[in-house]
Parts: sequence; C-alpha cells; structure tokens
Amino acid sequence: MNELQFKRHRRLRTTESMRSLVRETHLNKEDLIFPIFVVEGENIKNEVSSMPGVFQVSLDQLTGEMQELEDLGIRSVILFGVPHEKDEKGTQAYCETGIVQRAIRQVKQDVPSLTVIADTCLCQYTDHGHCGVVHEGEIVNDESLELLVETAVSQAKAGADIIAPSNMMDGFVAAIRRGLDEAGFVNTPVMSYAVKYASSFYGPFRDAAHSSPQFGDRRAYQMDPANRLEAIREAQSDVEEGADFLIVKPALAYLDIMREMKDRYPLPIVAYNVSGEYSMIKAAAQNGWVNEKEIVLEKLTSMKRAGADLIITYFAKDVARYLSE
Ligand code: PBG
Ligand code: ZN
Repeated sequence: MNELQFKRHRRLRTTESMRSLVRETHLNKEDLIFPIFVVEGENIKNEVSSMPGVFQVSLDQLTGEMQELEDLGIRSVILFGVPHEKDEKGTQAYCETGIVQRAIRQVKQDVPSLTVIADTCLCQYTDHGHCGVVHEGEIVNDESLELLVETAVSQAKAGADIIAPSNMMDGFVAAIRRGLDEAGFVNTPVMSYAVKYASSFYGPFRDAAHSSPQFGDRRAYQMDPANRLEAIREAQSDVEEGADFLIVKPALAYLDIMREMKDRYPLPIVAYNVSGEYSMIKAAAQNGWVNEKEIVLEKLTSMKRAGADLIITYFAKDVARYLSE
C-alpha cells in the first residue's frame, strides 16, 4: 500500500477510560470557594432576582448554609456583608459588631473547619457606593487605605482566615499587610484582587450586595478591559507588597490574563467566576438553551486550564454535587 503519512490523535480518544488516562486538567472540590451574602435581620433567605439559586441570608440561616457546604466537601467560603446602615465613611465595614464581623465569628465558632475569607472593601458600606473615601466627586486613594486597613484588621480580629481586599486602591496590599502585622496577625494571608477589571459582568453582584456606585463608575480605580500590560504592573506591585494569592477577575473574558499570571508568578492564582458569568448561564439554562451541568463544568475547567489553582464561584455547590455523581 502506498501509505499516507499522518498522525492518529484519535487513538487517545477511543474510550472514556482512555480519555481519562490522558486528561490534563481536573476540577476538585478543594479548588472551590463559595461566595455568600450575609444580611442583617432574622429568618431571611432572599433569592437575588438577577442570580437564580443565590441567596442573601441572615445570621440565623448562615450556619445551616455553612454546614451544607461542609457536607458537600467545599472547604472555603468568601463572605460579603450587606449592612443596614450606610454612611459617607463606610463605618459598618470596620465596626466590631458589623454584619460581616458577626458572620465571621459565628462561622468560625459553628463550623471551624471551613476556611473563612473576608472580602475587604467599602462599597457595600458607603452611601455613595464607591470602594474608597470620596471628596468632591473623587475617590481619594491614601485616605481610603486607612479605612481599609481598619476593615481588614477588624475582620482578622473576628477570626477571618484570609483577607481578600477588592478595593483597587494603590498600595492596599502593603498597607493591609503592615496593619495585620502590627496587630499581631502575621500569619493571616492576603488574597489580593490584584487584577480586577472595570467590568459589566458585576451587575448582578451589585443587586445582591447593594453596592452600585451612586454617581459615576469605577473606571478611575478598576482596570481597563483592553489592557494586558497593566495587569502585569498591578500583579507585580502586589507581589512585591506581600500578596499571598493573586485573583484575576472576572474570569471568562480574561483567561489570557490568567495564563499570564500563572506563568509569571509562583503564587496560587484564583479565578473569580463573577456574578454576570453565573447569571448568563442560569438564564440560558432556564430557557433550555444550554445544558447547565455540562456548560458549567466546561467553563470551570477552562479556568483551571488557563492556570487558575482556585475558583471563586456561585456554582460551587452545584459543582461539588456534579463531582460526586
Ligand atoms: C466589591 C466587589 C465586587 C465584586 C466583588 N467585590 C463588585 C464591584 O467591584 O462592583 C464582584 C463580584 C461579582 O460580580 O460576582 N468591591
Ligand atoms: Zn468595592
């Protein structure tokens, strides 16, 4: 026979056991971090209208939710507080009896094996909805740092295992690292939202957390979606300032950036699979247009393939169930 010369790639795809033998990327339950919104009041479990399946819960519901996570094999949670009272300086963000401080204390007491991550920002707590202090319509950097350090230290005092600052002020990692160290929390890691784009994918989160800016937008502190080198500059400074983890946010439209981070920095890389990414899949699945389970597993696998070690995702409970099936 006059043989054609070509490669037979399909040899490694013949059966499921052959495919699983050569599979390069795996999703694990331990990779998942579940975000939860904690509200004041009692007996509250409110579904967020733009995020079907995601709830705001009051403290009396929180422990049950956390036990469910533990039962599913999820080991980490990131807490977002939604306070009753907002003011100009976001006082409830760094108040000892603030909603998130109480939630942290409760989870660490009731379900101590969970790793509790505290989101450190001011936007849910300020009446203007920005992530820092505002003077004459401007978000002032250095003055914001003082309040963010206070917030981080109050969260560490409440028992947070990891501090995750999402505010995008310059110098927040250095300031928070020093603040934690001075308060005696030298062993509390900082998971920095190092690379956070000014994204339209955050829309549903802002409904859930009541954190929409009341004027303007966040483009003067969050990053321009068109930029890659800017992501490297942001991550570089956070690494130098002592970040222990780097978050890339959002995830799906930024997988190239995730790969870049993984190749450049020897730190755990975290993908934040944000609210808009969640809601788009949910809406399509509810219409019967896509297969939810398959599309969720495919999307999360793509984040790991792009270099993410961990994934913050509202799908965490679903994925833990899929992985047990
Ligand atoms: C607040 C914060 C935001 C998210 C996490 N922390 C929104 C924002 O910057 O407006 C977004 C998360 C999501 O969309 O799921 N600093
Ligand atoms: Zn914020």
